[in-house]
Amino acid sequence: MRIYTVKDYDAMSAKAAEIIAAQMISKPNSVLGLATGSTPIGTYQNLIKKYNDGIIDFSEIRTANLDEYKGLTPDHDQSYAYFMRTNLFDHVNIDMANTNIPNGLVEDAEEECKRYDAVIDALGGVDLQLLGIGNNGHIGFNEPAEAFANGTHSIKLTDNTIEANARFFASKDDVPKYAYTMGIRNIMQAKAILLVASGEAKADAMYKTICGPITPEVPASILQLHSNVFIVADEAAMSKVNK
Ligand code: PGA
Repeated sequence: MRIYTVKDYDAMSAKAAEIIAAQMISKPNSVLGLATGSTPIGTYQNLIKKYNDGIIDFSEIRTANLDEYKGLTPDHDQSYAYFMRTNLFDHVNIDMANTNIPNGLVEDAEEECKRYDAVIDALGGVDLQLLGIGNNGHIGFNEPAEAFANGTHSIKLTDNTIEANARFFASKDDVPKYAYTMGIRNIMQAKAILLVASGEAKADAMYKTICGPITPEVPASILQLHSNVFIVADEAAMSKVNK
């Protein structure tokens, strides 16, 4: 693991965008694995700025997002499809036909998970996977569990995650209870992984991810087994690791 501890959220966002830009410049048709949540928003803002400054070009970039809530239409303002459009895709020259995200409206989980795994395979796998981390150590919506999940699957969100995401909805009851997510195998098969984390609330998860045992109870801990992981986290998120 290459770990960059930076001062604050803005420094984290700038550093993470540098790494993604380097990937895009090295391979203009890169497959980027993308993440949602509040943490990557600043990273996307930095990428938009680099695009506006003529430093990076999305015309050949292909993307595969980690996850999507079940039951939300792509134009629901809390769907991850909507998040990606408003926070990145609408502001750069990406071809929307080259963007992929699980379809939360498909009821038949087996069908949708098979389709999404095939999409990732057809892209030739992910070159650089961006990840946030949950307070409980989840990556994508791979929640703490008794075993690591393989490919794309449907998952019931834990109370902890529903609670954490309730701030984006009118009430906790409005948070969808299920989601589709890439599995641990999809994430681990990415050629490189970039995990971003900010704030004290992530300190415990970061400590367990970096210093603890590899266990499905802390899904991100499996990243210790990957040979090409970059962690960009601010001082608050790293406060337990660096103490
Ligand atoms: P956050 O979510 O960036 O909103 O903290 C991260 C995650 O749950 O993966």
